[in-house]
Amino acid sequence: MSGAASLGARAAPACPKVEVDVSHRYGPLVVHQELRFSVTENEFLCVSGPSGCGKTTLLDILAGILRPSEGQVLIDGQPVDPKRDRISFVFQEPSTLPWLNVWDNVATGLRIKKVAPAEIRRKVDEIIEIVGLRGYETYYPHQISGGMKQRVAIARAFAIDADLILMDEPFVSLDQPTRERMQREVLHTWEHRRRTVVFVTHNLEEAVFLGDRVVVLSAKPARIVAEINVPLARPRHPLSPEFTRIRATCAEIMQSLHARAPRNDTAPGVSP
Ligand SMILES: Nc1ncnc2c1ncn2[C@@H]1O[C@H](COP(=O)(O)OP(=O)(O)O)[C@@H](O)[C@H]1O
Ligand SMILES: [Mg+2]
Repeated sequence: MSGAASLGARAAPACPKVEVDVSHRYGPLVVHQELRFSVTENEFLCVSGPSGCGKTTLLDILAGILRPSEGQVLIDGQPVDPKRDRISFVFQEPSTLPWLNVWDNVATGLRIKKVAPAEIRRKVDEIIEIVGLRGYETYYPHQISGGMKQRVAIARAFAIDADLILMDEPFVSLDQPTRERMQREVLHTWEHRRRTVVFVTHNLEEAVFLGDRVVVLSAKPARIVAEINVPLARPRHPLSPEFTRIRATCAEIMQSLHARAPRNDTAPGVSP
């Protein structure tokens, strides 16, 4: 992470859960330049950067469904393999299966993994309780709100014993009060079901509210410009002086990048 600000970032453990060392381009469009970072087991890592900087592309690479132009992603020391590694994805738009009710939607991942029926019942009932969907098990997706559908997607992601849960701006289309409630709920779920999470958001406040650590990306070609530890106990209070200070540090880093860099959300970051 040469040249990047490192504010109290922890030393990488001997064998992190996830190790990333990738560069990516789509044809002439350079999206990522030497992104190197690791994620500790059960860590909640947020990745924040401006729209179009390559956050979704990074998640596709982490999931093993897109091969980076250079480098690789290791999970438990092995190159990521979507057939072997248990990786859950929570998308921007809630992805529920409209022909299944809430209970069956949550059970889908476990059924695909061929978990025994009694174990599926136990795990689904437990996670439905944690995410607050008790009483809605027999409802179909068209009968519940957008926020509830996203809860179904989160429950499905946390129901399996995932090696890695990838969340791609999952609350971006929710109104502010629902978004804040969902942020608290995702933390509540993670605290009850510790998993390794990479949560992508362009919203710094959300990143500082949720993450153990925030990796800040520049506009594309994206580089890591800061790795910021958030050593605040949860629940966090966005109006507390410590929270405000960390968020301001992130915002200053982002703003200094905008001031220096030409706008490249319209002009592609073509390498020289
Ligand atoms: N399959 C693709 N082929 C070519 N360009 C792509 C493809 N997917 C994304 N891009 C481009 O790569 C850049 C990063 O996209 P994306 O990862 O979706 O960014 P973000 O999620 O940060 O908004 C954008 O300029 C986008 O237009
Ligand atoms: Mg995206």
